[in-house]
Amino acid sequence: MIDLDKITASVEKSVAKIDKRIIICAGTGCVANGSLKIFEAFKETAKEMGINLIIELKEENDKASLLSKSGCQGFCQMGPLVNVLPVGILYNKVKVTDVKEILEKSIKSGEIVERLCYRGKGKAYKGQEDIPFYTKQHRMVLKQCGVIDPENIDEYIYDGGYRAAKKACIEMSDKEICDLISASGLRGRGGGGFPSGRKWEAARTQPKGKKYIICNGDEGDPGAFMDRSVMEGNPHSVIEGMIIASKAIGADEGYVYVRTEYALAVERMKKAVAEAAKKGALGKNIFGSGHSFTLYVMEGAGAFVCGEETALIASVEGKRGMPSPKPPFPAQSGLWGKPTIINNVETLATVPMIINYGSETFRKIGTEGSPGTKTFALTGHVLNTGLIEVPFGTTLRHIIFDVSGGVTDEKGQIEDKNFKAVQIGGPSGGCLTEAHLDLPLDFDSLRKAGAMVGSGGLVVMNKNTCMVNVAKFFMQFTQNESCGKCVLCREGTRQMLMMLEDITDGRADENTIPLLESLAKAVQVGSLCALGKTAPNPVLSTLKYFRDEYDAHIKEKRCPAGECVNLINYSISDKCIGCTACAMKCPVKAIKGERKQKHIIDIASCIKCGVCMDVCKFKAVARG
Ligand SMILES: Cc1cc2nc3c(=O)[nH]c(=O)nc-3n(C[C@H](O)[C@H](O)[C@H](O)COP(=O)(O)O)c2cc1C
Ligand code: SF4
Ligand code: SF4
Ligand code: FES
Repeated sequence: MIDLDKITASVEKSVAKIDKRIIICAGTGCVANGSLKIFEAFKETAKEMGINLIIELKEENDKASLLSKSGCQGFCQMGPLVNVLPVGILYNKVKVTDVKEILEKSIKSGEIVERLCYRGKGKAYKGQEDIPFYTKQHRMVLKQCGVIDPENIDEYIYDGGYRAAKKACIEMSDKEICDLISASGLRGRGGGGFPSGRKWEAARTQPKGKKYIICNGDEGDPGAFMDRSVMEGNPHSVIEGMIIASKAIGADEGYVYVRTEYALAVERMKKAVAEAAKKGALGKNIFGSGHSFTLYVMEGAGAFVCGEETALIASVEGKRGMPSPKPPFPAQSGLWGKPTIINNVETLATVPMIINYGSETFRKIGTEGSPGTKTFALTGHVLNTGLIEVPFGTTLRHIIFDVSGGVTDEKGQIEDKNFKAVQIGGPSGGCLTEAHLDLPLDFDSLRKAGAMVGSGGLVVMNKNTCMVNVAKFFMQFTQNESCGKCVLCREGTRQMLMMLEDITDGRADENTIPLLESLAKAVQVGSLCALGKTAPNPVLSTLKYFRDEYDAHIKEKRCPAGECVNLINYSISDKCIGCTACAMKCPVKAIKGERKQKHIIDIASCIKCGVCMDVCKFKAVARG
């Protein structure tokens, strides 16, 4: 039987011998940037320098520094990241050639290599304790993601892990767990925001017998990587949440469903499940409580619709992943007809905290209707992109200007006046404007504004972004991903996409928008699952808040953001001094004119590449 205290005491003895800890970020982003090579370089260089560097915590170790890997630390844009604890130094964009200096200065003598620190507004920041990107967040689910070694269960246990599962299994009844989760107000982080306690209670009260719990790690929304990071960075928190859920509903088997493209998440989840089973945190009679729970990791082929719970169940059963009508709800009849609870990765990773600290403490974070925190994948025209976590109720203004550091222009320079919109919630969500900058981000206020928390994609856009194009991008995505079962979703999204193409290509007329709107409403009503029902959201919200842009495309055949190629025309003004720079660079020889004379663009041959505008030093080329 797993003895949490014994493991903790043993790790404590090993940790006492650790002088410094060098954490190499081994999340997907940093690995892609070469962080594993840096890990190897630390090992080799330390050996050459005679520094005692270990890579495994063991009681019998001598005094040493520990080199370990972590999951995503959130600041992927700055990767590869190297964190040095306990001094709390964070080095970014580290190269193999920097390793020797880090070892010499930060490990041997405790100095900071300033040139490798994050710089903002002319200042060098030491680490996570002073970099605004981190200090302005409230990291709970992600707290240990960039710290503990995701491939070492003992580190998770040393950090207090599996105590909530033990408490739930031994000290709490199934009803007490469900009541606690209901009292906490926890709402599902997978998009819908359904109260988790109520969902668990529905499965708990089904007749005793075979039941399942499934963790939804499909995460198909474009730009979203929150769930992947939690699975990669702290897989045991997900497993612990599942153990608690299994006890709450009386399930003895479960699945973690992860898309196969998430290779590292699959690998780490599999390793974590195997380790938990080996130690006795999974399997029969967990903690001697009499409760048994076996967990499997299943790889999905990577279809967005397979994140929908009935489609996901079909996929686990080995069938084609297509949604089916509800009721019956999965809590009544799910996997192989048995009561099944499906929860999102982040929802499950939040559960142990609620058991540990109680519902009241949890409710103190976030808002009345949306307690707790939410992770967001922040991308787009902002200074710092990455994975963030903030309490529900945080404003967009705080996220964009404080956490991220501001809006950027086309050259990547901060230009806050350039803010135009935020797309939130992926293909099911919508676009918000400057008027929403102070709107508290929570499930209910976002829904009222015509958007959605969704799974947590947050794309910030500056004034150079065409909102019709944004709507078209998401419509293209949902049209591709429609499973084809419902005519309105399959054909309606196709027609909507074609209408959006008509608008951006200059073919639309005054009938296009009324048609687009009525079709959008029909798709919302006539689709079976939320993929189709929410597919029109990006179109409807951009129509609501950026109608003037649609009108400019249709009535004036003009793209105000200058993005829709077919609606752009380049012209040369009287500022032209006839230097010939544009004519020499034009790839299709569309510019004519004598030296020292004003030049002219032949619109028919112009392929609208924009090169002439870039090369003209006299700002004589205009786009309109
Ligand atoms: C098309 C579609 C895709 C979805 N994708 C996901 C997903 O990737 N991950 C997820 O947790 N939920 C996804 N959902 C929501 C799930 O169906 C389900 O509501 C959720 O996993 C429940 O967990 P929660 O209550 O913890 O949020 C999707 C829903 C739809 C309609
Ligand atoms: S709404 Fe679309 S994705 Fe959902 S079942 Fe119908 S066709 Fe499939
Ligand atoms: S936009 Fe490109 S193709 Fe057109 S005139 Fe300028 S350089 Fe030539
Ligand atoms: S992967 Fe390293 S910070 Fe995200």
